[in-house]
Amino acid sequence: MTRASSPRPTSSGSSAAASGDLRGYEVLVAVCGGIAAYKTAMVVSALVQRGAAVHVAMTAAAQRFVAPLTFEALTARKAHTSLWDVSEPYDPQHLRLTEAADLVLVAPATANMIAKVAHGLADDLVSTMLLSVACPVLIAPAMNTRMWENPMVAANVRAIRDAGYEIIEPGSGWLACRTVGAGRMAEPNEIIERATARLKASAPKAGTPSPPLP
Ligand SMILES: Cc1cc2nc3c(=O)[nH]c(=O)nc-3n(C[C@H](O)[C@H](O)[C@H](O)COP(=O)(O)O)c2cc1C
Repeated sequence: MTRASSPRPTSSGSSAAASGDLRGYEVLVAVCGGIAAYKTAMVVSALVQRGAAVHVAMTAAAQRFVAPLTFEALTARKAHTSLWDVSEPYDPQHLRLTEAADLVLVAPATANMIAKVAHGLADDLVSTMLLSVACPVLIAPAMNTRMWENPMVAANVRAIRDAGYEIIEPGSGWLACRTVGAGRMAEPNEIIERATARLKASAPKAGTPSPPLP
């Protein structure tokens, strides 16, 4: 896959967007059940605008916050919502998706999902994917301050970081529970730039070609 050598315009609003050509890269975005899931739509849209081929997987809780249709429209691909939704019995989707991906991004990452990964649990599509990854994983936690500062959550975050999952630290600010404090998911632009930098650190795997850019 040949990648463009010249910048191209985007509407993501970021100054780095023009240099962030991601054609040829496959990104798997996992969305968990938090209010910040709506911001992940902006991240997905920006990655698509940069030329990445993006698959989205959603937990059951995530689908209560944002409809799969939103991500399907943004990616022009089916959103993956169930471990059992296999197109071919010999081709488990969690393995196919993670094998093809150059990067997995989890945003928002709930306390629940972080705990599952830290303890090796695989009881739904997203957690099963996160245990079968073959590429870098960026995790963008988002939660209420008391949850973020809970020692069990902190221990789980440390455990997954030590295991090689890369954390995009949450910031401090206005939270969905209408308080101000730590635990706010990193801003979409920071997540987009971290994902872009992580992708561009390596050549794309020889995977499915990205759809042509408009
Ligand atoms: C309105 C609302 C907002 C929530 N926001 C968060 C959140 O930001 N972070 C979090 O860890 N859990 C949050 N939760 C709890 C999770 O949705 C819940 O733990 C769920 O089981 C997570 O499932 P998942 O990890 O499979 O997506 C929220 C729940 C509700 C009802």
